[in-house]
Amino acid sequence: MKMMIELNNINSRMNLNNGTTIPCVGYGTFRTPADVAEKAVEDAIKVGYRHIDTAAVYGNEEAVGKGIKDSGIDRKDLFVTSKLWNDNRGYDSTKKAFQETLDRLQMNYLDLYLIHWPANQKQFGTQAAEINAETWRAMEDLYKEGKIKAIGLSNFMPHHIVDLMRTAKVAPAVDQIEVHPGWPHTEQVKYLQAHNIVVEAWAPLGGQGAHVMTNKTMLAIADKYHKTAAQVSLRWLIQQGIIPLPKSVHEERMIQNKDIFDFALTDDEMRKISMLTNLGGQCADPDEVEF
Ligand SMILES: NC(=O)c1ccc[n+]([C@@H]2O[C@H](COP(=O)([O-])OP(=O)(O)OC[C@H]3O[C@@H](n4cnc5c(N)ncnc54)[C@H](OP(=O)(O)O)[C@@H]3O)[C@@H](O)[C@H]2O)c1
Repeated sequence: MKMMIELNNINSRMNLNNGTTIPCVGYGTFRTPADVAEKAVEDAIKVGYRHIDTAAVYGNEEAVGKGIKDSGIDRKDLFVTSKLWNDNRGYDSTKKAFQETLDRLQMNYLDLYLIHWPANQKQFGTQAAEINAETWRAMEDLYKEGKIKAIGLSNFMPHHIVDLMRTAKVAPAVDQIEVHPGWPHTEQVKYLQAHNIVVEAWAPLGGQGAHVMTNKTMLAIADKYHKTAAQVSLRWLIQQGIIPLPKSVHEERMIQNKDIFDFALTDDEMRKISMLTNLGGQCADPDEVEF
């Protein structure tokens, strides 16, 4: 992949479709409680992360904002993402929820704001597409007002994107979806990249309780490169042009998770990892979720 040539550390930038850029590895904060998040985010920035991923529903935006302040790094040198939670969909609620997110983070703009999950037909029937369209219209207006540098989606499948594009004026820059060994989402990744939408991987290590890091194939490949299975998993994503968002509250793991640019998986190893199945993870179907 041509973009690989330029990616040599976690803050190497990838292009988004609106002319902005994004660091190729982000730091995740899901399940990081508010009382831990401030220090964890400060530590992550201290060891080198500049791309931080949070969400209103994580309940830690205020702590994440404080951690960022404590780090002493200029806001302009960071890339901060948050997400609109599901009970705030719709034009007015999206605008209000966005402002609340900014207030909690103590910021006056976001680098990236995502719709966390699409409204699905299971919950909203024939209204689902219209709800997503109205939510997106608010995101577009916030973007045009300069309050967000790029807008995108999370957990949207190709058919949700096709629906959205019927009325969208701004194309989504990113889709953040679950991708890890055992859950490669190959067809969706192909679709997104073909449409110039950057793919971000949530649960890039499989998430809490998955078996990615104890899998035999992963461990054998890791051994060959004197790396860990976690590093192999992140490398497998990077080599597909996917942005991983590893989460750890432990400094030594934060450091380990960024040390993935001094080895390259062979095509055969990439294929082998892509063929793994049943390694756990949420493996949620956005059309079936009820939250
Ligand atoms: N858009 C969405 O719907 C969505 C959903 C889920 C997640 N996300 C985003 O994606 C980020 C990543 O997903 P995730 O947090 O679910 O899962 P993850 O990053 O795949 O895995 C995190 C788990 O792995 C452990 N871990 C981290 N580095 C490790 C290492 N080097 N060796 C061994 N264990 C390691 C962490 O433990 P310790 O913390 O104890 O080290 C934690 O239990 C989230 O934090 C969030 O920002 C988005």
